[in-house]
Amino acid sequence: TSILILNGPNLNLLGTRQPEVYGKTTLADVEALCREKAKTLGFDVAFEQSNHEGALIDLIHAAKGKHAGIVLNAGAYTHTSIALMDAIASVELPVVEVHLSNIHAREEFRHRSYIAPVALGQICGFGAQGYLMALDALKAHLKD
Ligand code: DQA
Repeated sequence: TSILILNGPNLNLLGTRQPEVYGKTTLADVEALCREKAKTLGFDVAFEQSNHEGALIDLIHAAKGKHAGIVLNAGAYTHTSIALMDAIASVELPVVEVHLSNIHAREEFRHRSYIAPVALGQICGFGAQGYLMALDALKAHLKD
């Protein structure tokens, strides 16, 4: 079973980007933690990041038939992208939405998620740990 872990804009800067908000963990650290966790769950993982909305959409389309589920941190596109929402609805794969920060405790414009209505669920506020929780959630979901 393979899982796509997909990261959106600015997440390549994790570790140096607003560390007071996002912590000092880099995206490479997140990837290493995910790979370790995936091994214990018997998942293969593909770990991707793009700053481009269309590239993220292409990766979601390509996931169909290739991956059993998606862990998605869409970054700021979460709050703006109907196109990403439509892409997720189109591929009919289980998606767990993840955010490092608690988007509901931040600016009002971060409270709305276009991903949430088409996601299995949303995990936010737990830093990198949220990605691991998302993998657990997909494991439980795919067992049912
Ligand atoms: C984020 C939250 C978003 O509001 C923000 O635009 C990001 C990161 C998070 O992981 O906390 O880029 O998705």
